[in-house]
Amino acid sequence: MPEVVLSAQNLVKHYPIRRGVLRRTVGHVKAVDGVSFDLHKGETLGIVGESGCGKSTLGRLLMRLEEPTSGSVVFEGQDWSGASPKDTRRLRRDIQIVFQDPYTSLNPRMTVGDIVGEPFEIHADVVPKGGRRKRVQELLDLVGLNPEHINRYPHQFSGGQRQRIGIARGIALNPKVLVCDEPVSALDVSVQAQVVNLMEKLQDELGLAYVFIAHDLSVVRHISDRVGVMYLGRMAELGEEDEVYARPTHPYTQALLSAVPVPDPTLRGKRDQIVLVGDVPSPANPPSGCRFHTRCWKAQDVCSQQEPQLELRDDGHGAHLSACHFAEPRVIVETTDVSGLQPDTRFTTTEVGDVPDSGAGLGAAGGGEELGSSQADSTAERAEAMDPPARRPDDLSALTEDPQDRPR
Ligand SMILES: Nc1ncnc2c1ncn2[C@@H]1O[C@H](COP(=O)(O)OP(=O)(O)O)[C@@H](O)[C@H]1O
Ligand code: SF4
Ligand SMILES: [Mg+2]
Repeated sequence: MPEVVLSAQNLVKHYPIRRGVLRRTVGHVKAVDGVSFDLHKGETLGIVGESGCGKSTLGRLLMRLEEPTSGSVVFEGQDWSGASPKDTRRLRRDIQIVFQDPYTSLNPRMTVGDIVGEPFEIHADVVPKGGRRKRVQELLDLVGLNPEHINRYPHQFSGGQRQRIGIARGIALNPKVLVCDEPVSALDVSVQAQVVNLMEKLQDELGLAYVFIAHDLSVVRHISDRVGVMYLGRMAELGEEDEVYARPTHPYTQALLSAVPVPDPTLRGKRDQIVLVGDVPSPANPPSGCRFHTRCWKAQDVCSQQEPQLELRDDGHGAHLSACHFAEPRVIVETTDVSGLQPDTRFTTTEVGDVPDSGAGLGAAGGGEELGSSQADSTAERAEAMDPPARRPDDLSALTEDPQDRPR
C-alpha cells in the first residue's frame, strides 16, 4: 500500500446562519459533516456529488483556506491544527489548489509571468535555480504554453490555456498534493480532454497526488484511482474507481450513475434507469439517520433512525466502503463500462501540451487550442464538419481532434 500523504479525519465544517439586526445565530449549514479519507502518494482521489454537497468546502478545508469546525487534516503525519507558523508555511507550499474558473481565478491586471511567479513572492524563501523568470518559463513550457508569452495578460489566452496558467501556478512550488476544484468544468469538452491529459502527464512526471473534485462522473472516472461519492456533507461511498462504477452498492451512487449519458446506442435500452424523486434536502436541516432516506427507494424504518456508517460492505467481488444499511451491488448497465465512456476517446486521442501560438497553423492535427479566438465555436464547427449530426449528440468521440483516430 503506498504511503499516505494527506489524511482527512472526521472533518466538519458548519457555517452559522445569522439573522436579525443582532445577527443572532439561528442555525448552521452543515456543509461538511464528518468526512474521513486517506490520500496516497501519487494517486488521484476523485470526489463527486451534486452541487451543494460540500465538495468545494472540503477542498478548502484540505488546503486550510478555512478552519474546520472540528476534525483534522494530517499531512505527512503532521496535524495541521497543531502546526507552528513555520510548519504551516511549509505545509502551504506542499498543498496547492487549482480552481474551477480560469476566467475569474486569474488577476486580469497581472501578466502571466507575475501570476505563475506569484507563489515565489509569497514564499520568498524559495529561490528557484536559475532565477524566477527562468523557472516561470520552464513552468509555462511544462504545461504546454509558449514560454515567450510570459509578458502577456490572461485575456490573451483561451479558456484551456488559462487553466494551464492556473496549473502552472499550482505546481510552481513543487507541491506534493494538488487539490483541483472542478478544474475542467468550465471548459469545452475537447479542451477538457487536453487539460485532463496534461494533468495526468504532470502527475507521472512530478509524482503529484490529486484530489480531483468534479460533478462530471465520466471525467472523474477517467482520471481517478479511487472515487468518493458525497451526499449532503457526508461520504456515501468510497472505493477503487472500478468498485464504485461497476459495483456500486449505495443507492445514491447507483442513481447518479444511471443519469450518466451512455454514448453506445445499443446499450441505452439496457441501462438500469433510476429516477430520484424529491429535491436535495437543505444542509441546514439534513434528514435524520441516513441523509438519503427522503429520496431512497429502499428506505426502511431503521434508515431514518440510525445513521449508517461508512464501512466495508460486500460488493459481490470483494468489499468497499459504503454508508448504507442495505448495501448491495447493482449493475447499472450490462457492461463493466458503466459510464459508457471507456475507452474514453475524449481523453485518448488528444495530444498533451501541443498548443500552437497565436496565428500558428492550427487545423485538426494541431491538437491545441486557438489563441484569442472563439475556441468553442471552432471546435464545434470542426466536429460538425467531421461528423454528421445524426451520429451525435452523445457520441463524444465526435469532438476529438483527429478524425483518423476516432474508432469506427
Ligand atoms: N462561506 C459559506 N457560508 C455559508 N454557507 C456556505 C459557505 N460556503 C458554502 N456554503 C454552503 O455549504 C454547502 C456546500 O457548499 P459547497 O462546498 O460549495 O458545495 P459544492 O462544491 O459541492 O457545490 C452549500 O449549501 C453552500 O451554500
Ligand atoms: S441506509 Fe437506507 S435510506 Fe440510506 S441509502 Fe441505504 S437503504 Fe437507502
Ligand atoms: Mg463547488
